[in-house]
Amino acid sequence: MSFATDIKPLFSEEDRKSMDFAFDLWSYDDVKAHADLILERLEDGSMPCDKPWPDEQIARFREWIAEGCKP
Ligand code: HEM
Repeated sequence: MSFATDIKPLFSEEDRKSMDFAFDLWSYDDVKAHADLILERLEDGSMPCDKPWPDEQIARFREWIAEGCKP
């Protein structure tokens, strides 16, 4: 799993714009720095604010973290 090929494409331009007050969802450093908080919000379904992610996508994000958040 890498951020560039497996994780970044999961974040839409809309997501990125909505969240740029807190961090940049297209930035590897930012997503890595907030990975646990992001996973928490994805798992409780509160983010993305418009439509929760399917379990398969949450599992991919969780696995990326488990593998050490590769770039
Ligand atoms: C996959 C996409 C998204 C992720 C991973 C995400 C993640 C997060 C996280 C981790 C926080 C907490 C930030 C903090 O406390 O420092 C947050 C807050 C927030 N997000 Fe998102 N977000 C996403 C998409 C969106 C979208 C599409 C909207 C609205 C159009 C949105 C609106 C907000 C708002 C208003 C807050 C602040 C209030 C709150 O904590 O609930 N986010 N988001």
